[in-house]
Amino acid sequence: MALSTSPFHTQIDPQQLRALARQYGTPLWLYHAETLRARIRELKAFDTIRFAQKANSNLHILRLMREEGVVVDAVSRGEIERALAAGFTAQPGQGASGIVFTADLLDELTLQTVVRHSIPVNAGSIDMLHQLGSRSPGHRVWLRINPGFGHGHSNKTNTGGEHSKHGIWHEDLPQALAAVQAHGLHLVGLHMHIGSGVDYGHLQQVCTAMVELVKRAGVTLEAISAGGGLSIPYREGEARLDTAHYFSLWDAARRAIASHLGRDVHLELEPGRYLVAESGALLTEVRATKHMGRNPFVLVDAGFSDLMRPSMYGAYHAISLLPADDQARPVQACVVAGPLCESGDVFTQGDGGVVLTRELPQARVGDLMVLHDAGAYGASMSSNYNSRPLAAEVLIEHGQARLIRRRQTIEELLALETHLD
Ligand code: LLP
Repeated sequence: MALSTSPFHTQIDPQQLRALARQYGTPLWLYHAETLRARIRELKAFDTIRFAQKANSNLHILRLMREEGVVVDAVSRGEIERALAAGFTAQPGQGASGIVFTADLLDELTLQTVVRHSIPVNAGSIDMLHQLGSRSPGHRVWLRINPGFGHGHSNKTNTGGEHSKHGIWHEDLPQALAAVQAHGLHLVGLHMHIGSGVDYGHLQQVCTAMVELVKRAGVTLEAISAGGGLSIPYREGEARLDTAHYFSLWDAARRAIASHLGRDVHLELEPGRYLVAESGALLTEVRATKHMGRNPFVLVDAGFSDLMRPSMYGAYHAISLLPADDQARPVQACVVAGPLCESGDVFTQGDGGVVLTRELPQARVGDLMVLHDAGAYGASMSSNYNSRPLAAEVLIEHGQARLIRRRQTIEELLALETHLD
């Protein structure tokens, strides 16, 4: 089973995967706690690691983060409630608030929630500052700045530049600061996040943009946030980010800012994918095989309602086959597709939805497949499309598997409608 860049499968015994599939059914999300903890430790040089929980918001994963001294970002009322339920508070711990709310708008209920819990707000629009400031003067705020450029593994994950809705445009910083002052808001710091799955060159560019911005702004700050965006090697042979070097760039930026301001500046990082992607996999069972002309199709019981990334971004996930028997299987180029009633429900696809084949050992009904590196934006982006219940999640630590989310039931799916009868 050495098909993926991920350390996941090499650390999990195939027998255990089969046993888990029998016990909990498929599709099944699996997470490997040791991998998760190892990724966190690689980033410990930053003063604060703030986990972007949109990547994986399971309460048990959030609790593991908290045990490791990681704090969280929340982007919705639901994510705030998850953070609170996992034991985070808005109060500063190790110099940083346990929860920060990041968004480009504030709806009324969310506004009430951040005020009630005194959760710092990372504002992506000046309107947010007015709405928050008129309700909660003195509230702690960050300003999320769009530096005028962005990057991502896909256009859909680029969050900077003129075509992005995110952040306060860098040239509008004076107006944002005026709003902060007018409402007596407490400015904590500046934040930049230019996209998700960003290459190294673009990540470096953000440091420079941050230093220039602070110098131009003529404002004093306690902290800066480098945002997230760090890539992981999804394909075999792809390089891993040099986290020590990445930190050294930001440390230099922080020092330049600190010497300009004449005070210490706290340095935050806000990764999602980097912390959780490689710790997770989606386990699925082969339920049918067929040929469409020359193309062999392998149909599995997970679909884009479970793992949306290939359909949404043409994203690549390494796949390995776990044969139900020990017989050698010839390798063939096949399409791997799911159960949904929609042609885009294909895991082996490229940009623009073009269907691709993948070289895999020939699959038979009853075999298992593992879709690797699915711990980030996997379960958290799942849906109930085709009225399919959300899959269960299992966390493996020291070889022991623990159910951390049970499978949703069909009754639960119907309940929102049936209780009206
Ligand atoms: N901070 C902010 C303000 C963000 O918007 C995001 C991601 C992050 C941090 C974390 O980014 P990361 O370190 O995970 O790259 N669904 C897409 C990714 C969307 C990311 C949205 N924002 C995917 O599956 O690739």
